[in-house]
Amino acid sequence: MAEKVPLVRFNNGLNCPILGLGTWQAIRGEESKVYEAVCDAIDIGYRHIDGAHLYGNEKEVGQAIKEKISQGVVKRENLFVTSKLWNTFHSPDWVETAVKLSLSDLGLEYLDLYLIHWPMAYKEGYDLEPVDENGKTIFSDVDYVDTWRAMEKLVEKGLVKSIGVSNFNTKQIDRVLEIAKIKPVTNQVEVHPYLYQQKLYDFCNTRDIVLTAYSPLGSPQRPWAQAEDPNVLEDPVVKKIAAKHGKTPAQVIIRSAVDRGIIVVPKSASKKRLAENFDIWDFKLSNDDQKEISRLDRNFRVIPHDHGREHKDYPFSQE
Ligand SMILES: NC(=O)c1ccc[n+]([C@@H]2O[C@H](COP(=O)([O-])OP(=O)(O)OC[C@H]3O[C@@H](n4cnc5c(N)ncnc54)[C@H](OP(=O)(O)O)[C@@H]3O)[C@@H](O)[C@H]2O)c1
Repeated sequence: MAEKVPLVRFNNGLNCPILGLGTWQAIRGEESKVYEAVCDAIDIGYRHIDGAHLYGNEKEVGQAIKEKISQGVVKRENLFVTSKLWNTFHSPDWVETAVKLSLSDLGLEYLDLYLIHWPMAYKEGYDLEPVDENGKTIFSDVDYVDTWRAMEKLVEKGLVKSIGVSNFNTKQIDRVLEIAKIKPVTNQVEVHPYLYQQKLYDFCNTRDIVLTAYSPLGSPQRPWAQAEDPNVLEDPVVKKIAAKHGKTPAQVIIRSAVDRGIIVVPKSASKKRLAENFDIWDFKLSNDDQKEISRLDRNFRVIPHDHGREHKDYPFSQE
């Protein structure tokens, strides 16, 4: 099954499965489903797991990986594991500590990919959401360019194979490229039919940086969703295209990213939907389908990260 997933070749020559499993909100604790979700996903054929220190579940993700390796279902070298450097670890002195924390939680010796989660630095430390007495996030003025230099050292030390960014805008990417000894391989950003990201996609293509689509299904269970918010999974055009191909809206949306060469990491904690989201290799969208989907773009962001709006490096205001 796993061999079914096409690989994307990064600018450093390494490969990444184009479809991966998202793990945000598959949280630990009583309602934890992340251990089972990762086990089920690997059984189904997923070989790419997208995680982050922020998600608070890397131990459970690591246990599932360990279990599947010990059962002989998969070998470490055939898995692609991503984590992300959280905003409170941007200071160059903290970067190695942060990646070692993720490695230790995951029980791994190296990551395939480590991303700067956001361009915005927060007050350094283990408190992931530092706030002042008024409840406002406490920022730090560390420049992500200095963070990038520290990320490069992780590659040199063999702790991570590839490095990239997430939620960076075009200017921020170019600033990193100006100083980079090692280029970012990917920019992981929100992409779905209501945020089609054609400009950023073209920009990254010309710099040999692959886009990775997060919240590809519009993250319907995000805690701040409003009843009146549009839902891509319910979109009539997406539904019409899905019916034409005998597929579901989620499959059409995932395929739309794959057909553009975009890496895509839908999250599910249900075995049925994990299998559904993986079952996209027997059809392709026509150019007309893709055009229709592109016309659904309405610049609708499900992850606007509002509490970062006043940060000097907030990425979405100048787009
Ligand atoms: N870099 C960043 O800043 C960033 C930000 C956000 C997300 N991410 C990454 O991207 C991943 C995906 O994004 P996301 O979790 O926000 O949302 P998403 O993948 O767009 O949507 C996940 C939601 O859709 C439901 N779902 C999954 N498959 C479905 C299907 N076939 N039909 C109907 N509903 C379906 C899931 O419910 P069930 O679980 O019940 O199936 C879950 O509620 C995250 O998990 C994380 O790894 C990164």
